[in-house]
Amino acid sequence: MGIRRVQVELEERSYPILIGGGALSELPGLIGPKVSKVAVVTQASIPLSLDIHQPVKVITVPDGEVAKSFVTLERVISEFVEFGLSRADLVIGFGGGVVTDLAGFAASIYHRGVTLVNVPTTLLGMVDAAIGGKTAINIREGKNLVGSFHQPRAVICDTSLLETLPPEEILCGRGEMAKYAFLGADNLLQLPLDAQVEVCAAIKAQFVSSDETEGGGRALLNYGHTLAHALEAQGDLVGGEQRIKHGQAVAIGLIFAARLALSLGRIDESRLDEHLAVVRSFGLDSKLPGWADPDSLIELMRRDKKAIDGLTFVLDGQGGLEVVQSIDPGLIRSELELMARDKRS
Ligand SMILES: NC(=O)c1ccc[n+]([C@@H]2O[C@H](COP(=O)([O-])OP(=O)(O)OC[C@H]3O[C@@H](n4cnc5c(N)ncnc54)[C@H](O)[C@@H]3O)[C@@H](O)[C@H]2O)c1
Repeated sequence: MGIRRVQVELEERSYPILIGGGALSELPGLIGPKVSKVAVVTQASIPLSLDIHQPVKVITVPDGEVAKSFVTLERVISEFVEFGLSRADLVIGFGGGVVTDLAGFAASIYHRGVTLVNVPTTLLGMVDAAIGGKTAINIREGKNLVGSFHQPRAVICDTSLLETLPPEEILCGRGEMAKYAFLGADNLLQLPLDAQVEVCAAIKAQFVSSDETEGGGRALLNYGHTLAHALEAQGDLVGGEQRIKHGQAVAIGLIFAARLALSLGRIDESRLDEHLAVVRSFGLDSKLPGWADPDSLIELMRRDKKAIDGLTFVLDGQGGLEVVQSIDPGLIRSELELMARDKRS
């Protein structure tokens, strides 16, 4: 099977997503004639393989969310300067979402914006983080609070790079894939891996093309994410380190959103059962972790930067998914308590 191609349509900023084992061999052809140097942002645990003519500077950043910081950003940019990277040159984000978020932000502000190519090396990066131009770093007050929109020139999803990815990181990507099952991706797991990535990337591309800066429809990509972000934040607070991975948190968030929709009369029991079946089919847990505390989760959800008016969720309903604002905190609290006790989820 050859390289699959999905296009993100954004007029003069349109770009391809190339998918498949060996897709990285397309990279030289994507580098414009004016590019004389290439800075590659990556991490030590990621096997780097690049076969290009231009001089390359490899910038290795730490593992984990700590890399998405002003400190690392400043170092990355200093290394661009030392290398003599000009406005006409290229930055490559070669890694998971941490790397592409950081490299993308650095590329967006260096010389007021240089060209970026993303090479996602995690499943989550291939189906989500590397596509769509959102870049970000974290600050003490919260995750992803500083960032920009900077679309890449291309996204290369070479699925052979996933061979070295630890199983728990594959599972993390599957949490986002479970979300796509409610955004039009049917029977994903029956497809070969490259086709799974292609279907998810095409859905993301469609949302990005129709709403680049998330003024409307793109917000539906946050299905399952209101509770997920709060769980991740609470997990960090309780454990002092990451207690729950993003994809697993999204899976639990999907089930919670379905329970909320059921209690609001938007869906029936069978639709909740479908949510449970999908999440389990991806090998993900659907239970609220024992350490989850409803009161602090509600507080964290109130502070969610996506919350427009009170507690905001993407919820399923007769007409499909929709953003629903000002949900009663009392209802959320009782649903969280019910979910903690329910043996099904
Ligand atoms: N910009 C967006 O639209 C967007 C969307 C979703 C998530 N994100 C961000 O993505 C980040 C999470 O990304 P992630 O799940 O990819 O995690 P990650 O980037 O932390 O990568 C997970 C781990 O896998 C290692 N790794 C990556 N590729 C590997 C490979 N091929 N072989 C061996 N090890 C490899 C990394 O070094 C890291 O230790 C979060 O910061 C999140 O905020 C951004």
